[in-house]
Amino acid sequence: MRTKIVLLAATFVALKGLTASAAIGPPGEWQHWQAEVEINNLASRQRGARNFVAYCSGCHSVKYLRYSRLGTDLGIPTEQLEQFLLPPGAKASDYMATPMPKADAEAWFGTAPPDLSLITRSKGADYVYRFLKTFYVDPDKPSGVNNLALDSTAMPHVLSSLQGLQTAVLRNEEQPSEGGKPVTVRAWEKFQLDVPGTLTPAEYDKFVGDLVNFLQYAGEPVQVKRQALGIWVVLFLLVFTVLAYFLKREYWRDVR
Ligand code: HEC
Repeated sequence: MRTKIVLLAATFVALKGLTASAAIGPPGEWQHWQAEVEINNLASRQRGARNFVAYCSGCHSVKYLRYSRLGTDLGIPTEQLEQFLLPPGAKASDYMATPMPKADAEAWFGTAPPDLSLITRSKGADYVYRFLKTFYVDPDKPSGVNNLALDSTAMPHVLSSLQGLQTAVLRNEEQPSEGGKPVTVRAWEKFQLDVPGTLTPAEYDKFVGDLVNFLQYAGEPVQVKRQALGIWVVLFLLVFTVLAYFLKREYWRDVR
C-alpha cells in the first residue's frame, strides 16, 4: 500500500512538473529552434565558460562542477583559471557556487535562480537555447520583459546589452480544437529588434550557442571522454567480430 502511495505521489509530482514546464508563450516557429550542440568543440566550451562566469554566475551556481575540473577538462592553465574565472577569495578546488544568498534572491526575484548543473539534461539544450533567445519587451512585467519559452519568467533579460531589445509580433491563427470548431489563437510571427545590442543577431546566436555548449558539458563533464572512448570500443568490436568469424571457421573445419 505504502509503495502505491509513494508511486502515486511521484506520478503527481512528475505530472505537475510537466504542466509547469508547459507554461510557454504563443505557438510559432520559435518552438522548433534548435541549439547546435558541439560537445567536442573545445573553443566553444571555453568561450561558454567565460560567458557563464561573466554573465550568469552572479545569480546561478553549477554546484556539481569544481573550477579545477573545469580547468583540466577545458585545458585552461591554473594561472588563467585564477586570473579570469575564479571569483575573489575562491579556491580552484571549490565548486562553482553563486555569491547570491538564496533568501535575498527569493526576495528580489520572487523565486531563487535555480542551479544550472543539470538544466540541459532536465529541460534539454534546445530549451535553454530558446529561453535565452526569446526574451521580449513586455511593460506589464516587473522586469520589463517576458519570455516565450518560460512565460512570465522571473529572470531579467541579463543579455539585453548584447542582444538588444526586441518586441514580439503576433498574428491571429486558426487552430483545430477538440470540439471540431477551429479556434483563433494568438501566434508568434517574428521578433522586431527595437534597440540593437552590441552583437549582431548571428553573433548573439553564437554567444548563446557557446553558453549552451558549456552547460551541456557541465551536465556530464565525462561525456566528452565517453564519446571519444565509444568510437574505439565500436572499432574494437568490429575488428573482434572479424577475428571471431575466422576463428570459428578454423575450429569448425576440424569438426567437419
Ligand atoms: C540577475 C540574476 C540572474 C542572472 C544574472 C541570470 N539569471 Fe537565469 N534565472 C534567474 C532567475 C530569478 C530564474 C528563475 C526564473 C523563473 O523561474 O521564472 C532564472 C532561471 C534560469 C533558467 C531556468 C529556466 C527554467 O525553465 O527554469 C535558465 C536556463 C537560466 N536562468 C539561464 C541563465 C543563463 C545562461 C544566464 C547567463 C547568461 C543567466 N540565467 C543569468 C536569474 C538570473
